[in-house]
Order: sequence, then C-alpha cells, then structure tokens
Amino acid sequence: MSFKDKIDLNKLPKHIAIIMDGNGRWAKQKGEHRIIGHQNGVQSVREAVEAAAEIGVQYLTLYAFSTENWNRPKEEVMALMQLLVSTIHSEVKTLNKNNIRLLAIGDLKNLPSDCFAELQDAIKATAQNTRMNLVLALSYSSRWEIINAVKQIGADIEKGKLKITDITEHLFENYLCTASIPEPELMIRTSGERRISNFLLWQLSYAELYFTEKLWPDFRKEDFFEAIVDYQNRESRFGKISEQIEE
Ligand code: IPE
Ligand code: IPE
Ligand code: MG
Repeated sequence: MSFKDKIDLNKLPKHIAIIMDGNGRWAKQKGEHRIIGHQNGVQSVREAVEAAAEIGVQYLTLYAFSTENWNRPKEEVMALMQLLVSTIHSEVKTLNKNNIRLLAIGDLKNLPSDCFAELQDAIKATAQNTRMNLVLALSYSSRWEIINAVKQIGADIEKGKLKITDITEHLFENYLCTASIPEPELMIRTSGERRISNFLLWQLSYAELYFTEKLWPDFRKEDFFEAIVDYQNRESRFGKISEQIEE
C-alpha cells in the first residue's frame, strides 16, 4: 500500500510549509557544484506541488530563499536568482493548466529587478486560479516579517489609525505577509536538519514538525505523502487534554 492510499482525505492539513534543504550536500555527494543541487531541486518542487494539488491541499508554502541566504557567496546567490527567474517563467503555463495560484512572501523589494518582475508577472497571470495556492517564501525571514509588522503597526498608531489597546493576536496577524493565509498545520524540513531557520515563527506555533533525512533533490511525491500520513497519526491538543479533544 502506498503512502498516498493511507491518507485520510477528510483530515488533510489545509496548509503545508516546506523548508527545502540539502541541495548543496546532494551536489557535494556527487562531486558536483552546489548549483547542480539547486537545479535538481526544481524537479522536487514540481513533485511537491503536484502531490499537494492531487490530494487537495489548499496552501503549499515553499521556503526558497531566506534573508540570511543573501550572505552566501555572490555567485551562488546570482545562480539561484537566475534559476528562480527561469523556473518561474517556464512554470507559469503549468500552474495555469493546473489551476494553481502563485503568491510570494518576503522582502521582495530586495530581489534583483528581473526576478521581481518575473515574479509579479507570474502572480498576476495566475491570480484567478482557485485549486491551490503556491506560496514562495523569497528573501523571507520570520524576524524580518515580525519587525516589519511592528513598524507598520507603529506607523498606524502614529497616524491615529490604531490605538495600543486595539492590538490583539488577530490584528497582529493582519500585518504579517501571511495575512490572508491560514497557518500551516504541518511543516516539513528535508536534509536531516532539525531547526526552523527563521521560517514562519509566528505561524508555526501549533504546527506539527516533520523532519526527513532525504535531501531536497531526492524528495518525491511519496515522501510528501509519507509526511502527511505521519501528521495524521499525531494528535494536536492545543494545550488541552486528550479527552477534551475527543468530545
Ligand atoms: C537549500 O539547500 C536551498 C537553499 C537554501 C536556497 P542548501 O543550499 O541549503 O543545501 P545544504 O544545506 O548546503 O546542503
Ligand atoms: C533554510 O535553509 C532556508 C531555505 C531552505 C531557503 P538554510 O540551509 O539556509 O538554513 P540553515 O543555514 O541550515 O539554518
Ligand atoms: Mg541548507
């Protein structure tokens, strides 16, 4: 029985977030340059997107480039940006064919202008699609996002649009990049690293965390389904006790 067959479609997470890690190590194992690992990671992105859409996941967020990744060697950063531009460009047709809407979160103004333009075009071109939302986290870090939210709230208080007593969890969420996006119930990280690396710190508060040893370029649909089966075998208690959840 495949992992896909074991999934209870009535208990699907609405939103799954993935830290796609291990491209560099995958390439190193093969004696190749790190960028070969990134290039091979594109197929894994396709598989994850297809797998999520096939079973009916509504939101899939992929951590593609962190704020901290700007500190990598210049040639790797440039190669990653080029790969992003070419991948986004070539995948728009497939996204439209599959009725998938593209969104992006992060400090997008920091992207090179061709990358930013390609991204905006793809977001516009897929804006009407309704089957699934694919959210790319680009030049994203959670601390940046939270500080950004705090600054905007401060500015709205200064303008008199808000009072300090208006600040609630719900209001704060509206100032995050993920304002219109439900929080992920499941976060997957590949490559065996067990950390969050500044990804969706607020939004992952109650998410189940799933770690796999697979390096990202080796990640396939069945690996995605396996993570969901694992998730479905867990129980979220949200601070309560089991008996309260069963009621
Ligand atoms: C993830 O793979 C891709 C990005 C962060 C852009 P890495 O490039 O981090 O690969 P490792 O962790 O060095 O193996
Ligand atoms: C996290 O991976 C960021 C992305 C996958 C885009 P990193 O490889 O950059 O994170 P660390 O350095 O292991 O924490
Ligand atoms: Mg890494």
